[in-house]
Amino acid sequence: MADKQKELDKVRRVILDNNICPELAATATNLVMGDGNINADIVFIGEAPGKNEDEQGLPFVGAAGKFLNEMLAQAGMVRGDVFITNIVKYRPPENRDPLPEEKKAFWPYLLKQLQIIEPKVVITLGRHSMEYFLPDMKISLVHGQAKRIQFGDHKIVIVPLYHPAAALYNGSMRQTLIDDFLLVPAIIKKLSD
Ligand code: URA
Repeated sequence: MADKQKELDKVRRVILDNNICPELAATATNLVMGDGNINADIVFIGEAPGKNEDEQGLPFVGAAGKFLNEMLAQAGMVRGDVFITNIVKYRPPENRDPLPEEKKAFWPYLLKQLQIIEPKVVITLGRHSMEYFLPDMKISLVHGQAKRIQFGDHKIVIVPLYHPAAALYNGSMRQTLIDDFLLVPAIIKKLSD
């Protein structure tokens, strides 16, 4: 892709110009498009911005983000090695779950981001982003398992993980998420071999 950053900026522009999710836009401070390395092999996809993310215009900068950073470090990565975004790009009021129509409205723009970045692996964080890539799968049954799916005209690997915010204060889920996370470098290595 000629100029990935320019293409990504265009996606942002189209969301604003088409007034996507006007109800969320009305209460949000920022449109949170994503952050990190636009040439990364790995893209993480969360649910939606929270309070801190909305204020700073960046994904995963609150408590869940701190936990994500710790897991990245344990897996030998830093945020600059990956790209991080969300399925819904405005903060839902009071951090409620994103509505099906909100996820649907943002889905084409998430796809466009992935077409531009062309990662080898997409890591979904929580069921809201998983359900679009792996419909009908239950996160409790498939977390940590790499799944190869057809994506446009090429194949892509999806690794569904629990959401760091859900796992943060739940001892067993937290350990499961850490254990799953530590499998990621081996998955990437296998794809590169
Ligand atoms: N939770 C998410 O799903 N995304 C963020 O950006 C922050 C918290």
